[in-house]
Amino acid sequence: MALDNIRLEVMNTVEKQVDGFIEKYLIPVEDIWQPTDLLPNLQGENYMDELTQIREEAKELEYDFWVVLVADMVTEEALPTYESWLMDMEGVKQHGKSQGEENSWSKWVRHWTGEENRHGDTLNKYLYLSGRVNMREIEKTTQYLINDGFDIGTGRDPYKNFVYTSFQELATNISHKRVGQLAKKKGNKMLGKMCNIIAGDEMRHYMAYREFVKTIFEHDPSEMMLAFHDMMKRKIVMPAQFLRESGQGIAEAFENFSNAAQRLGVYTTYDYIEILEKLNAYWEIDKMRSLTDEAEKARDYLMKLPDRMRRIAGRMAIPEDQHIFKWVEANGRL
Ligand SMILES: [Fe+2]
Ligand SMILES: [Fe+2]
Repeated sequence: MALDNIRLEVMNTVEKQVDGFIEKYLIPVEDIWQPTDLLPNLQGENYMDELTQIREEAKELEYDFWVVLVADMVTEEALPTYESWLMDMEGVKQHGKSQGEENSWSKWVRHWTGEENRHGDTLNKYLYLSGRVNMREIEKTTQYLINDGFDIGTGRDPYKNFVYTSFQELATNISHKRVGQLAKKKGNKMLGKMCNIIAGDEMRHYMAYREFVKTIFEHDPSEMMLAFHDMMKRKIVMPAQFLRESGQGIAEAFENFSNAAQRLGVYTTYDYIEILEKLNAYWEIDKMRSLTDEAEKARDYLMKLPDRMRRIAGRMAIPEDQHIFKWVEANGRL
């Protein structure tokens, strides 16, 4: 049987559990928080006080902080890229709802997207109201990023995609959580709460995607191992890898953003390594037996990778020079 057919068969088998995963890891619309729960109520009588509070609290936050928050928001706002990418995976059927041909994988992608959509929405509104950033430049960056798409090295392979999403959901959980902690430390309670609650969503999503992978390991261990190995070998790229500002070429803003995130300690190389260790542990990579020779080698590579990366990470220096972004103009510097 062709390789792809085995993957499709596994996807069809696991598909029967997906409704259960949706119920376990996602929250129904009527029960989940919405962006306006965390933002000033503009229909209320105290709206001016609340707006003043947002703007006052925002004054305490430093330059790198705004850069990271903007790029995190833009990353969330490029959601159309991620939804269309996942919908295109082998085994996902989005057509024929009335004929009963649509499958639960597409339902997962839709419901996951529905939850994710609230993240960019929340942060966008906050940034707009904060008065600290150039929204028009940010909006252009978002449009560019959606235009530019991404290339995460997964192709249409669901195994590789689920490794990617497991990794990324935990990465976003960490970065939103850290941004929230920094905000809180500066007395910015409203933003602290926003980031924290978004981080909570990312955690549930991480738990779901890692479960998909675990289930696939039960059905197709060697191929799942090879997919995991391939993704780690080529390195997990960030979804905003092609980030740019207006007037720049594709991807030109990404490195400066990433340096700002490292300087703030919001997301570092050590976090990357720890995520890998967590995935290795959850999927019990070290205990995986009855693999093909190639998959055994992949397993050994994955087990050794964290230590290897740690040795290299110790030698890497983070640039200290602050790039000035159009999103946060120099006259807005604190
Ligand atoms: Fe998100
Ligand atoms: Fe997410």
